[in-house]
Amino acid sequence: MRAATVTVSLGNASYDITIGPGVLEQLPTVLARTCPAARYAVITDATVAQHYGPRVRDLAATVAPCELLTFPAGEWNKTREHWQALSDALLAVGLGRDGAIIALGGGVTGDLAGFVAATYLRGIPVVQVPTSLLAMIDSSIGGKTGVDTPQGKNLIGVFHQPRAVVADVTTLATLPHPHLAAGAAEALKHGAIADAAYFERVVADRAAVLDAEPDVLASLVTRSVTLKAAVVTADEHERGQRAVLNVGHTIAHALETVGGYALLHGEAVGIGMVLEARLGTRLGITDAGTDAALADALEAYGLPVERPAGSADALLDAMRVDKKARSGTVRFAFLKRIGQAARNAGPEWTFSAPEETIRSVLGA
Ligand SMILES: NC(=O)c1ccc[n+]([C@@H]2O[C@H](COP(=O)([O-])OP(=O)(O)OC[C@H]3O[C@@H](n4cnc5c(N)ncnc54)[C@H](O)[C@@H]3O)[C@@H](O)[C@H]2O)c1
Ligand SMILES: [Zn+2]
Repeated sequence: MRAATVTVSLGNASYDITIGPGVLEQLPTVLARTCPAARYAVITDATVAQHYGPRVRDLAATVAPCELLTFPAGEWNKTREHWQALSDALLAVGLGRDGAIIALGGGVTGDLAGFVAATYLRGIPVVQVPTSLLAMIDSSIGGKTGVDTPQGKNLIGVFHQPRAVVADVTTLATLPHPHLAAGAAEALKHGAIADAAYFERVVADRAAVLDAEPDVLASLVTRSVTLKAAVVTADEHERGQRAVLNVGHTIAHALETVGGYALLHGEAVGIGMVLEARLGTRLGITDAGTDAALADALEAYGLPVERPAGSADALLDAMRVDKKARSGTVRFAFLKRIGQAARNAGPEWTFSAPEETIRSVLGA
């Protein structure tokens, strides 16, 4: 398959996502065209650094001198402490306003390195080079950057759109299996909110996806990115419609926070989608049977569909600090059915729910 290009249209801040097997070799051209700089710094986690760090540094160094900075892998490291350590390291090497960041890795790296770029010297450019399926189809696009706090996920952050995204699906060959499945959960989410046929295709392609088959992955990443780019273009700063991308995420973020990140993000999103579909059905918003369709698709990927045992109170407390919460009232983005997100009144795409109903869906 040849490389595909999807454009996120945001006026002057528009950028291209280049997707395909081997597109990493195009990084120097992409940097020179979209993000010329006097110096680059690749930020990556220690695991991804082992696989691709020197190669990406050397590719960027054909354009301008390039540093390689790392932090320890894992969601629990997406913190202000690592934002500080990386920012201090950039100051120590003397990266200037004419410098730029290359975020190489999964969603944790994209969010953390993007936040460093957004705040360093009041903001320098970033190019996203995602290496996990989740980062390719979801987190590298849309400009959300930030870190977690003990109170919850992504509570500190800013919007900072990348100059370009380069998604080389051959890098997924080294991604551990559970992370391929977890990435597929977000692809199923894209199908569920906007394209029922795509939802079915993601299910049908599961064997090839889990085998990291490059052409199948490239086609899946291209479709997901096209769907996400359309939503981001319509609502860059999540004032309305962009909230549909948060289907499943109110419960997912609470599961991640309360569980100490024992679940992968995509695993938590899968469970969250099933439980929120059940909640939406009880509220008369989501068609009956949507939860079962989601559960079947997730189970085909070997993903969990039930929440881990534990107190519903702790989850409810965590939901109240979710970014979508307003005056302490929990908000949800719901599906109408597989292939269509539910719209609330006017410009509003999120819904509140009575606490007893949330509780009954969470179980004891
Ligand atoms: N900004 C957004 O819009 C957005 C959207 C969705 C998710 N997210 C965030 O993304 C994060 C989850 O992303 P993730 O699942 O990619 O997590 P991650 O970055 O932790 O990557 C998962 C694991 O895979 C390893 N890895 C990544 N690429 C690899 C490769 N090619 N080969 C071998 N190992 C590799 C990493 O070292 C890590 O251990 C969460 O923090 C979530 O909040 C952000
Ligand atoms: Zn997500």
